Amino acid sequence: MKTFFRFLLPLLVLPLFATSVRCADVASSLHSITLPNFEPELPVAPGRKAFVAACVSCHSARYVFMQPKFPQKQWEETVGKMIKVYGAHLSTNQLHEIVGYLVAVNGVAPKESAVNSTPGTVQARDELAAMFTAPQNPEAVRANLKRGAELFAQNCAGCHGASGKGDGIASPVLLPRPANLAVTQFSVELLSDVLWNGVPGTAMPSWRDLAANDLNSLVTYVQSLHPANGRNIASAENSARGKFLFAQVCAACHGPLGDGKSATAATLTPPPTNLTREQPDAAYVMQVMRDGVPGTAMPAMQNQFSEPDRAALANYVRLFFIQPKSTDK
Ligand code: HEC
Ligand code: HEC
Ligand code: HEC
Repeated sequence: MKTFFRFLLPLLVLPLFATSVRCADVASSLHSITLPNFEPELPVAPGRKAFVAACVSCHSARYVFMQPKFPQKQWEETVGKMIKVYGAHLSTNQLHEIVGYLVAVNGVAPKESAVNSTPGTVQARDELAAMFTAPQNPEAVRANLKRGAELFAQNCAGCHGASGKGDGIASPVLLPRPANLAVTQFSVELLSDVLWNGVPGTAMPSWRDLAANDLNSLVTYVQSLHPANGRNIASAENSARGKFLFAQVCAACHGPLGDGKSATAATLTPPPTNLTREQPDAAYVMQVMRDGVPGTAMPAMQNQFSEPDRAALANYVRLFFIQPKSTDK
């Protein structure tokens, strides 16, 4: 009954809002319609925009609604097939959104609690993120590193420098400067997001036109630029003081949870770093607190903190990072 309304309501309302953005969204699929019963207005549910952007370029949305209702697992597999077999380009985030959308509009609700059916639950994210994770098998990792190095030299070194230190030939004229990729541990999620979307408000472009395999190789390669000895373990030392200072000074932009979600964040481009997805080395955080990040809202705070307070903050901001789970598999 609910699904019925999802299909029907938008149809009834459609003529009244003939010029709405939603119509523009699906305009491309409108041209190829032969069975107009529900295709003209795709059901509205979270993830619809990502679906329209990624899934109606090769075939019409009818392909989805011709299928029986699938459970989430099977939609994940179907979308995985679009990527692996047919070469559809998607970021991990889009995968979550699209699978969530497909389950909502043409899926079987799981028997468990409603929470499990929400897109982006931990379980679903891990399975989907796996498509962008370096394989564990050393042979495949080596292949990824080799391909990633080629791609990096061709596409990234001009800005980020041959060894990723942010000192490429174009770097002096860019603000903010290209990131030094050797001083931060990046999660797979962050890298997929950044490669797919670029960083708004900076010279960092989007790389959607690269094949999924190549994006995967770049993820592996960029992670390898951060030396293992740079992964100084986040220390809980002084974390009470760090927590206090962070709440006073940094949370206004980076959010109380360090995830970049704050009222101010919405007004800043580039946005404040989400510290759950990347872990800067302590020495680099110290440098950022001293000099700020020129060309962004991140302020220089050279004289604001005593040395021990700076160290406490540097330790504290590193505790937000969500360690990858791949090691316990
Ligand atoms: C690069 C082109 C391309 C893109 C992008 C694409 N598909 Fe497909 N899709 C195909 C091809 C090719 C087939 C097989 C066509 C056939 O058998 O007639 C297909 C078939 C399907 C089918 C039928 C079942 C099956 O397994 O063959 C479904 C469902 C489907 N696609 C869903 C999606 C969804 C959801 C997306 C967005 C994530 C998407 N497609 C994006 C190329 C694409
Ligand atoms: C035209 C210059 C340019 C090119 C080419 C470029 N980048 Fe960037 N990149 C930047 C800039 C500038 C930033 C800094 C953005 C900021 O400070 O928010 C950046 C940031 C990044 C970040 C860090 C994002 C974050 O949130 O901390 C990663 C990772 C990255 N780039 C990877 C790559 C990879 C991989 C390539 C090649 C496929 C590439 N970049 C190509 C300019 C470039
Ligand atoms: C006015 C808003 C604002 C405040 C206050 C602020 N930040 Fe930032 N911060 C930013 C923005 C915006 C960026 C993103 C810079 C970029 O994209 O390169 C950032 C980036 C960072 C980075 C990552 C730099 C990089 O290149 O990846 C660190 C570490 C950081 N901030 C720490 C802090 C700490 C610690 C405090 C408090 C002492 C703080 N910030 C306060 C806005 C702010």
